[in-house]
Amino acid sequence: MSVATRTAHDGLTLPLIGLGTYGLNDADGVAAMLSAIESGYRLIDTAVNYGNEESVGEVIRRSPVPREDLIIATKLPGRHHGFDETMASFDESRRRLGVDRIDLYLIHWPNPSVNRYVDSWQAMIELAGDGLVGSIGVCNFTQPMLERLGSTTGVLPSVNQVELHPYFSQGPLRDFHEAHGILTQAWSPLGRKSDLLENSVLADIARSHGVSVTQVVLRWHVQQGIVAIPKSSDAQRQQQNLAVFDFELADEDMARIAELERGRIWGADPDTHEEM
Ligand SMILES: NC(=O)c1ccc[n+]([C@@H]2O[C@H](COP(=O)([O-])OP(=O)(O)OC[C@H]3O[C@@H](n4cnc5c(N)ncnc54)[C@H](OP(=O)(O)O)[C@@H]3O)[C@@H](O)[C@H]2O)c1
Repeated sequence: MSVATRTAHDGLTLPLIGLGTYGLNDADGVAAMLSAIESGYRLIDTAVNYGNEESVGEVIRRSPVPREDLIIATKLPGRHHGFDETMASFDESRRRLGVDRIDLYLIHWPNPSVNRYVDSWQAMIELAGDGLVGSIGVCNFTQPMLERLGSTTGVLPSVNQVELHPYFSQGPLRDFHEAHGILTQAWSPLGRKSDLLENSVLADIARSHGVSVTQVVLRWHVQQGIVAIPKSSDAQRQQQNLAVFDFELADEDMARIAELERGRIWGADPDTHEEM
């Protein structure tokens, strides 16, 4: 299975499909992540707040694929914002993951009321400069927040991971990313906890291509250069989610999907949402 890639302004190259790991914990989670690697996944997305960095560490040690071929992303939680707090949190993540270096380190939520994400960003710039982190990025940042990082530190994130699926396509933010070499990553790409996978328009398009609805949704992401990180605990569904590089959605399909726009599923607006 050949998975297309995209490259950010700092040279970070990501496969357009990675593995989400929220809910993949302990022995079952380890088995699920190993099966994903066997199917061809190379990007593994974890976070302190998923409580599974140790499981990801076990996966790295047991992986049939060498460490240098895996891209491990983890995230700084809101309760650790601040320069020194970020440094300490990073060390804890490294210890739990059992690695010297983290490939992609992300701020999980901006928590603007705390107003310390710039301090964390400065710490992350230092970690990258010291070679302890491959690339640095953020999640759930708005355009003004990205601009603030750029204007205060001169360094823009390589990645912004945001809620993104056919119900919430994030057009204006993606345009900003494109203009600045920031890779757009989609969380909940399959619209978890919504009726997206039962949508009749998507079902119709899926039938016409002889693929599943999830494949239409993920093809919609990758065809627009978005890195999607679907989570699945099942080996067959993982394989299905990766198999989206041998068919193409027509302009007409894309136009029909564009009409599905509704807004956020989760209601988690980064300007107000707090997550510690
Ligand atoms: N940065 C952030 O703030 C943030 C927020 C949320 C999520 N994330 C990241 O994004 C990842 C993905 O988001 P998500 O886990 O919320 O949701 P998602 O990937 O949109 O959906 C996952 C759900 O879809 C099911 N599924 C997967 N493949 C399927 C298939 N082929 N057919 C039918 N059902 C399928 C899964 O069930 P099975 O497991 O049973 O297959 C699971 O219930 C997370 O795991 C996490 O890594 C980040």
